[in-house]
Amino acid sequence: MSSIGDRNSGCSPKSMLPIFAIYNNLSFSPLKRTECKDNKKMEKTHTISYQEYAIEELSAEDLSLLQAAIKATATSYAPYSNFHVGAAVLMADGSVVMGSNQENAAYPSGLCAERTALFSAAAQHPGVAVRTIAIVARNPQGTLAPACPCGACRQVMSEQELRQSEKMRVICYFSDAKILIFEGIENLLPFGFDM
Ligand code: THU
Repeated sequence: MSSIGDRNSGCSPKSMLPIFAIYNNLSFSPLKRTECKDNKKMEKTHTISYQEYAIEELSAEDLSLLQAAIKATATSYAPYSNFHVGAAVLMADGSVVMGSNQENAAYPSGLCAERTALFSAAAQHPGVAVRTIAIVARNPQGTLAPACPCGACRQVMSEQELRQSEKMRVICYFSDAKILIFEGIENLLPFGFDM
């Protein structure tokens, strides 16, 4: 059976003890972590991949989804950040669901555009896979600004992929000259949480 201490590193669980001790506010020295002699064993690399397009290189389907996301920014409620985010989801049955960020005076009660769109899509089209989500943002000046999903939205995308056993594409608008497309959430959230 593997434990946190021996999972990737070859370190003994005993050598990890000081880390937990710090969290428990005890006075062990973090330097004791160097008890793990072969530190090189812990280092692994992870590659992510994405494609970069100019707007005129997008397929008609992707361009139309991006335009839907731009349209969705008009429904954003963002009186606190003045940052208007729009998302559009293309479902496997061809339907498009739009979402925008919805803020609240109690800040954490608000929701990002991506999750508004994804949760709405799941509620309105249960059991239908999400093919692609496009994301755009407008800065307080109203100009389109680079938009890439936050960590919480990536986690929700990751779970949606698990639900549908199908990879999801993510289109992030940075500028007309730079649109990033990720094929699968693994490229945005390696080692996402799952139970
Ligand atoms: N926001 C999104 O809608 N999506 C993201 O991925 C990151 C941030 C929203 C939340 C908030 O209303 C505003 O942008 C500023 O953070």
